[in-house]
Amino acid sequence: MDLEFQGKSVVVTGAGSNIGRAVALTFAREGAALTLGDIDQEQTERVAEQATIAGAPSAQFVRTDVTDLAQVEELIGAANDEHGGVDVLVNCVGWDKLMYFTDTEPELWQRIIDINYVGVLNCTRVALQYMIPQEGGSIVSISSDASRQGEPREAVYGGVKAAINSFMKTIAKENGRAGIRCNVVCPGVTIPEDDEEVGETSMWRDKDSMFTPEQLDKVARALPLRKVGRPQDIANAVLFLASDAVAGHVTGQVLSVSGGYTMIG
Ligand SMILES: NC(=O)c1ccc[n+]([C@@H]2O[C@H](COP(=O)([O-])OP(=O)(O)OC[C@H]3O[C@@H](n4cnc5c(N)ncnc54)[C@H](O)[C@@H]3O)[C@@H](O)[C@H]2O)c1
Repeated sequence: MDLEFQGKSVVVTGAGSNIGRAVALTFAREGAALTLGDIDQEQTERVAEQATIAGAPSAQFVRTDVTDLAQVEELIGAANDEHGGVDVLVNCVGWDKLMYFTDTEPELWQRIIDINYVGVLNCTRVALQYMIPQEGGSIVSISSDASRQGEPREAVYGGVKAAINSFMKTIAKENGRAGIRCNVVCPGVTIPEDDEEVGETSMWRDKDSMFTPEQLDKVARALPLRKVGRPQDIANAVLFLASDAVAGHVTGQVLSVSGGYTMIG
């Protein structure tokens, strides 16, 4: 099926690692022109090279801290300058430190809010500045099933991801008349296949600090599909939602891609 991404200008944040990397390489295989933003230069430049080999007619890296609006303006401006517009934005940057709420301090809360939420606000604001005059575009934000279920050790992160779900629905309502669609994908536990897929700044650099092998096994056994997610599972859902060809009448939706996690309990 042709998702009609050939030559389309696609911006992916957090593109250096795990889910963002898989999203970037999947768009590359569809022939999209990529602009990749991340704080991890070495790893994301490698992804840009791999994207070109995979089929992207162009793949540029712009070092970007999404919490800084001026850097986001550079990132999305570069997509417009190099690729003649901004057709798709995928907000993939995210970060958490798994801790019980009673063990956390306000500095950690603020860091989680800035990276996960302010980053999405910054990128969405700048992308809309290009998409509204173009009268079209698609934004997909990566949230988390922690936003829907409530997950121990993810209290602040889950709350912030719920804010993303709500924010994207409002943006969908405000901008539908301009032909802009906005949707959300909520991954469950989604682990890289091998070390090449994660950068130095990834949450998964020290996998055991997130989940021990025993914990991962327990998560998998609890899920209806009896397996944890892989980055490609999320990338497939992102491509579907981003594509006007197959999801042109879908907006304001929050899709869990988590092996049935939201049906438990
Ligand atoms: N992997 C999972 O199990 C899982 C589950 C639910 C939701 N998610 C969400 O999916 C998204 C991707 O997760 P992942 O597992 O690929 O994470 P990851 O840590 O492997 O990758 C995140 C990327 O974002 C980059 N980044 C971090 N802070 C940044 C900043 N301020 N500016 C720019 N780049 C920054 C990192 O350098 C890294 O390349 C996140 O939004 C995360 O919250 C992941």
